[in-house]
Amino acid sequence: MPADNLLDDILHKKLEHRKQEGLFRSLVISRDKIDFASNDYLGFARSSFLETNHTPDRFGATGSRLISGNCIEAEEAEQAIAQFHQTEAALIFNSGYAANTSLACLASKNDTFIADELIHASMIDGIRMSVAAKLKFKHNNADDLAIKLKKATGSKIVLIESLYSMDGDEAPLAAMAEVCRKHHAHLIVDEAHAIGVFGKKGEGLVGHLHLQDQVYACVYTFGKALGLHGAAVAGSATLKNYLINFARPFIYSTALPPLAYRHIQTAYEHLPTANRNQLFDLIQYFKDATTSVRKFSFLKSDSPIQGLLVSGNDQAKRLSSYLFENGIYAKAILSPSVPAGTERLRICLHTFNTREQIDLLMQHINHFAK
Ligand SMILES: Cc1ncc(COP(=O)(O)O)c(C=O)c1O
Repeated sequence: MPADNLLDDILHKKLEHRKQEGLFRSLVISRDKIDFASNDYLGFARSSFLETNHTPDRFGATGSRLISGNCIEAEEAEQAIAQFHQTEAALIFNSGYAANTSLACLASKNDTFIADELIHASMIDGIRMSVAAKLKFKHNNADDLAIKLKKATGSKIVLIESLYSMDGDEAPLAAMAEVCRKHHAHLIVDEAHAIGVFGKKGEGLVGHLHLQDQVYACVYTFGKALGLHGAAVAGSATLKNYLINFARPFIYSTALPPLAYRHIQTAYEHLPTANRNQLFDLIQYFKDATTSVRKFSFLKSDSPIQGLLVSGNDQAKRLSSYLFENGIYAKAILSPSVPAGTERLRICLHTFNTREQIDLLMQHINHFAK
């Protein structure tokens, strides 16, 4: 390290500033806590069915898909995913972040991305990386989307989530699709938090509502209910070929290892029989139990993503720490990640949570409130 480490001094000052703002981030190990924080909604990450007998011929990918990283496991998984979601093709990316930032390549200078104002950071980054024009519309507001679409030029690409990651609310998908149809816009839906949770087979909200034909593409991430890692963009064969040719996060990154593709395919095979009823029973139990909490209010949500509104970053962090000390992990979501005044404890429910754990959570929240 150089003797006068100027860059480290600058970084240190910025970190100190972040600490003063109360926004300093640090890593925790939460494995021994009751899990109300992870996105493993179906408990797949802890299930034994992912221990397959398949032994691949190599453990690393050895290169990007376009060099030496392509393999039969990747192609079979992509076929299975396309079939599952009833689309022509699917392309697997190393993560949802890589898939969403790849969308940047779909638009040129005269085109327009139009995104819901609460879209995930990975899609925001994708738009930022693009040379296209950018417009935002009010959250879940089809009328505002229509207004923005009138202002848009060139190819119009609309980006939404089907189940929003912070509020746990669903997009009015049919209304959004209809507005896009009227304005000749292409709708891309991030189904990160809906896959596995919604639909008879866990196909997500687009498939559940039979809207596949009205949606240009969907992004399915494997790091949430599938309990794994990676993501797929599902759409036309042309889209897949285009992404293979132009999506920089796909082209310039070592592929997933062969076993990862086999795990993804196995997890998809288990989606139809996952115990979604148990998850939704637990969501109902949680919602009933919230009536015992007087001091705080909860976000309206029928999904595994619930939110306890705790005004102010300080109080949200104190509540999360208090629960952590008492063996419960639920993450505080601070402003500016969410608008000031809507700071919250994000509480994720899973098939493996029990009613007793929910009772304990409510007891501790009430105790904190005193
Ligand atoms: C809505 C949404 N899209 C995309 C991503 C990114 O997916 P990944 O974690 O696989 O990079 C996330 C992850 O938090 C997400 O919540």
